[in-house]
Order: sequence, then C-alpha cells, then structure tokens
Amino acid sequence: MGALLPVLGSPAKLLINNNNDNDYTPTDLPDRIILTVTPDMATSITVNWRMADKPGDNLVEYTIADAHPEFIANAVRVKATAKAFRFENVSAINCRITLNELKPETLYAYRVGNETNWSEWMQFRTAKSNTNKANLSFIYLGDAQVGIRPLWSRVIRKAYSNMPDAQLIIHAGDLVNRANEDKEWGDWFGAGGYIHGSTPTLMTPGNHEYTHEDGKPHLSLFWNEQFALPVNGPADELLKGCCYFTDVQGVKIISLNTQMIEEALTEDLIERQVAWLHQTLKHNVQQWTCVVMHHPVYSTKKGRDNKKVRDHLKPIFDQYGVDLVMQGHDHAYARGMNKIALTGGAAGSRSGTTYIVSVSGSKMYETEPMEWADIIGSHLQVYHSVNIIDNTLAFRSYLATGELFDAFDLVKEKGRQNTMIDKRPSK
Ligand SMILES: [Fe+2]
Repeated sequence: MGALLPVLGSPAKLLINNNNDNDYTPTDLPDRIILTVTPDMATSITVNWRMADKPGDNLVEYTIADAHPEFIANAVRVKATAKAFRFENVSAINCRITLNELKPETLYAYRVGNETNWSEWMQFRTAKSNTNKANLSFIYLGDAQVGIRPLWSRVIRKAYSNMPDAQLIIHAGDLVNRANEDKEWGDWFGAGGYIHGSTPTLMTPGNHEYTHEDGKPHLSLFWNEQFALPVNGPADELLKGCCYFTDVQGVKIISLNTQMIEEALTEDLIERQVAWLHQTLKHNVQQWTCVVMHHPVYSTKKGRDNKKVRDHLKPIFDQYGVDLVMQGHDHAYARGMNKIALTGGAAGSRSGTTYIVSVSGSKMYETEPMEWADIIGSHLQVYHSVNIIDNTLAFRSYLATGELFDAFDLVKEKGRQNTMIDKRPSK
C-alpha cells in the first residue's frame, strides 16, 4: 500500500452494519431491474423489476439490438406477471417475465415499464446453443452482506469492468445482512445498478437470507418475489428458488441450499435435496460441473466448521466428479483441492473437486492456517473470473483494487481427476 496522507478529523470506521436513511420508496419509474438465469440461456431470459403499485399493464418491449436507434421500431411488446408486494412500510409491485424463443448468441435490447413510464433500453446477449465442448465466462462473488452500497459497489463494478462480456454473475449467498430489510435490498440493487439488468444473474441464499421470528428458519420474503429463478429443483416449497440448475455452453451450474441442510427441521428435507442432487448429477452430460452454495465444505477457521454440509454433500461431489464448488460465509478467501482426500479413498487419494471460499463485501473475519487450503487470504474484498474453454478452466481471483491475487487452471483429462496448475502471480 502506498503512503497515505495524514487523516484530518475523525477517520472512517470499518462498517459493521448497513444502517442508512436511503429512501428506496418505489416510484412510477421501474427500478431493481435484474436478469435471472433460465434452464436454457440460449433461447430464454427472465426479466424482473419493481415499480410503485399503480393500475395498468406492466410491460416489456424487446427486440434484437442494432446500432441504428430505429431498432426500437421492431420491438415486440409483452405483458409481464405483476404481483403486489406489501411488507411493513413497503408497498410495491414486483414484475417478471421469461422471454422465450430467443435466438442463440444474439444481442437483444429491452426495456420495462408501462404505457407512460419506461426504463432505458438495456442490452444482453443470449448464450450459444449448448455444445459438447465448453466455452463459458462468468463472474463469481462471495458475500456482499455488509457495506453493500458504500463498499461492495466497487467490487461488482470492478468485476464487470474487468469482464464486461461475462455471460453470468454468480452470487454465493448472504447478498444482504437482514433478510427482510428493504433498505439493504435497495443498497444491493443500487450498488450493481445496470449490471444487474445487463448480465444474467444466478444466486443462492445464505443464512442471512433467513429470519427466525418464531425460532424456525424462514427464507426472506423478498427472495422469490424479486428473483424468478428456475423451477427445475426438488418439489419442495422450502427449496424453491434455492435449488436449481442451468446448462450453459457445456457447463452445468447447480445452486444448492446449505441453510436447509445446516438448519433443516426434518431429515426428509435434507434427503429431498440430496436425492435431487444425485439425480441431477447422474444424468449430467455437460463437460464441466460447478456448484454454488453458501456454507463451505471446508472453512477458513476451525470453529466455523459445517459438518452437516460436508457429510451430506462432499461424498456426492466426489462420486460424480464435481469440478468447482463456489462458496461464501467465512468472510475470507481460500481455495484447495490437492490436500483434500477422496471420500472413502485409499491413503494419499485426493478429491479432485476444487473448493473456493470467498467474500466481496466489507465484513471481514480472521482466519487460521487450515490443512485443506492451498492458499488463504484475509481482510480482502475479492472477485473472481472463471473462463472455461474446452478442457481448461481458468480461475482468477482479483482484489477490489483490480490486482491479481490468486490464479490457477484446472485441466480435465478423460477418466482422470482434474490437474490443478498454480498460476499465482510471483511476489
Ligand atoms: Fe453466511
């Protein structure tokens, strides 16, 4: 770090909560516009947004984008599903629509609103039709959770500016600190701004997306109202919008709900998720398989162990050769593969699955040296780029300032476990 100027007056303190007086009252203009993933990203996309609750149709206009601004004359207008949302002092209407029958690998433009009030025209690109050889780029972010507007904003913006053509942004849970606090969701949408409306998002909930008013875990009232996520998960209302997958450009990406393992009220619920994961992986024909979930299988500090998650999920990851598990929760960065043993394997065996723990917001936890990890970083806001081309997955970890912090490639060879090639920048 370079020399800092002397501080005048009281220096800023590390943020420990998201308290603010920001006014996020919905208006006649659409806001909180976000694209969410679908099972077939080559031909469909889901658009979500909110507005003040007024009579009339809520609409999307969309068409193939063109440099000539008259492209808008070709736009098709469709009616969205709109649902009133009332909670405490929040009164809004949440809108959503899945646009189907899109052309693969095509840049589309769209706007959302009603007869009188519209968003700007935003652009997104559909994925290529699924192929046997993988070819996918995405951004992965750990917990935003605290300091969302003041300090998480710089991370998602740096990630996007580093990788504007990423086909997905993946959030590994704890997007906010208080599950039902509208101001925190307002901070989260504001920090990402137009990025949320330009790059399809895939998110999984963390423990902070749950409340416990009656002692039992309840998923944020906001989650499934503001994010329309794929419904190809287990048939259980408690896992809706939490367990699902998409197959995109040779990669299967699976969202799991670890809160409903750690805090499940019944063994049945855990079994339902586990059975679904087995089935999903058994029939998997994608070249690469990535999982996103909140609680890490291996933690960055001894007292933060998630044994139930590890006991239920790691044997399945091993059995089916899951390539990459993207996690959060520990407010630090870590990655490992080579020192993790295969479940039930002989002495000296290794798992073959790479596990990442990450954090993007400003809440920082201490770490300890952990046997499983090749590298642990603490007191750092980080983001990750993942570029998969055929049999190579390039994983890069960048600091909030844009410097490369960690790097490795995974190389896949038929019938063998992945090889990890360390590409860490030399100090
Ligand atoms: Fe967490």
